[in-house]
Amino acid sequence: MSEQEIRVPDLGGADEVEVIEILVSAGDSVAEEDPILTVETDKASVELPSPAAGKIVKIIVKVGDKIKEGDLVGTLSSNSASSSDGASDSAPEPEPKAQSDVAPAKSDDSVSKPAPQKKSGGTRTEIVKVSGLDGFDDIPIIELNVSEGDDVDVESALVTVESDKATMEIPSPFAGKIGKILVKEGDKISEGDDLLEMIITEDSADDGDDSADDADNSAPADSNDAGKKQPAESEQPAKPESPVAASDTKTKPADTGSVTYEVPAAGSKVHAGPAVRKLARELGADLARVKGSGPKSRIVKDDVHGYVKAQLQQAQQGAVVPGAGSSGIPGVKLPDFSQFGEVEREGMSRMMSVTALNMHRSWLNVPHVTQFEDADISDMEDFRKSLKPLGEKKGVKMTPLPFMLKACAAALAELPQFNVALDMDRKEVVHKRYIHIGIAVDTPHGLMVPVIRNVDQKGLWELAAESAELAQKAREKKLKPAEMQGACFTITSLGGIGGTAFTPIVNTPEVAILGVSKAAMKPVWDGKAFQPRLMLPLSLSYDHRAVNGADAARFTSALARLMGDIRTLLL
Ligand code: COA
Repeated sequence: MSEQEIRVPDLGGADEVEVIEILVSAGDSVAEEDPILTVETDKASVELPSPAAGKIVKIIVKVGDKIKEGDLVGTLSSNSASSSDGASDSAPEPEPKAQSDVAPAKSDDSVSKPAPQKKSGGTRTEIVKVSGLDGFDDIPIIELNVSEGDDVDVESALVTVESDKATMEIPSPFAGKIGKILVKEGDKISEGDDLLEMIITEDSADDGDDSADDADNSAPADSNDAGKKQPAESEQPAKPESPVAASDTKTKPADTGSVTYEVPAAGSKVHAGPAVRKLARELGADLARVKGSGPKSRIVKDDVHGYVKAQLQQAQQGAVVPGAGSSGIPGVKLPDFSQFGEVEREGMSRMMSVTALNMHRSWLNVPHVTQFEDADISDMEDFRKSLKPLGEKKGVKMTPLPFMLKACAAALAELPQFNVALDMDRKEVVHKRYIHIGIAVDTPHGLMVPVIRNVDQKGLWELAAESAELAQKAREKKLKPAEMQGACFTITSLGGIGGTAFTPIVNTPEVAILGVSKAAMKPVWDGKAFQPRLMLPLSLSYDHRAVNGADAARFTSALARLMGDIRTLLL
């Protein structure tokens, strides 16, 4: 018995590969050539075989590690006479299993460029032949990835083949329209066999000569160039191009940016080709949850599309389904409350379920931070109270709210980074050149947020009248949809009720919301003595993706300054 290193063998030209599954554990007995781990190249996944029979001592890599030829992945105690005491150079380098079986397609040199077959008008027809199998014969087709009439790009997967150890796709050497398909699922194919006809439009087609320096889409697939044709990494919801082509590997969480990918149950097997896995990663679909309709329950693209469609429909129906949402958040299991006492169940109103969904959506999507500040509104309150007789004459009640609206409009103009929306899909910031402010209104049937338009252009009396009218309409359920749309920012005032501070939830896609609590007399040090001042607690929650903490402090300071001396609102 001697300890032998297990190193990464020749990877058929691939530089660095990712470990996607570890197939053995310390103590496992393996035969020579038994698979140790599965790695993923840019075209296929392959299993790295054991260099000898023996017992696994340790595996030093983990799933997600990047490894290259010659790297140490573990050791085994070998009973083979030929094994060394850890000297890697004396151990025969095993070939990766998939290479002796199905090698990754080397589309740079192995894709044959067939001679044009037929020409008609502006198009010509090419026979696409099987390529990239490195001479291995009789590999069964397990999936046709295209149908007649499909438009495909260079490198699009045409068919998926599978040996007993690996799955791989045969990429298209051209951009064009799929004509007659000359094979079917289950057929066994070999290098050079006719696969399908492709109709190529002449003006966009590359005849296969080497003059195609203009990087035209129909240029034959070139694995070295393939990366150039991919969208920028920042645009990609899933990991960089590396389709998983494992033979029955477990799915793994994809790095999907904002989408949380639920880790499938341990031991669950997924039977799907690389294109399907890539599609699932792009759409954030957990393949472990998708039912396969192909042969041997293989998951095909239509299954993924169907699954995503069903998920979207479920979400649109407003269902916040615990444990079943795409957020991947474990659901809350309710106990049987009746075991603790008498209970009564009542259906949620539509408004309650919509509000719940909106709150949940905002809470999950927006990284919230809340900034607190106290504004000295002693002088503002004196002025407001002095307006009471005039208000009675006008029939308009002047509450603190119109002053807050004016102050917020001025602060939004001063710090326009608060008057934006984030378009994360397009990686753009939408700057709004108007100032519409929503006011949260507490009504018997739930929270409503009517919107006051162009607050910056209105006076205090106009704002007082309009906010009272909209609040009344809200309470009477008379608001029109247009009266609840278009806000840049929201004020939620609990000042008439009580409390010292709270953390409101941003009304996304707005990026900030001002919570106002009850003003209270407090002793404020003026440099010589404590003075009784009426202090208004402000709580500004903001989307930390759009706004930084310093700007939030500037915003609440500006509000305190503006409300502390309302003459500045005129400036
Ligand atoms: N501190 C102390 N008193 C305050 C105050 C504050 N921050 N804000 C209002 N008040 C006083 C008002 O001056 C008024 O007193 P008065 O009658 O003696 O003048 C009293 O509280 C009631 O004011 P209100 O009728 O609430 O008017 P408003 O213009 O301040 O507020 C609404 C209007 C629509 C915002 C308010 O009625 C409302 O619905 N608030 C609840 C919003 C909510 O539920 N938010 C939670 C979202 S999660």
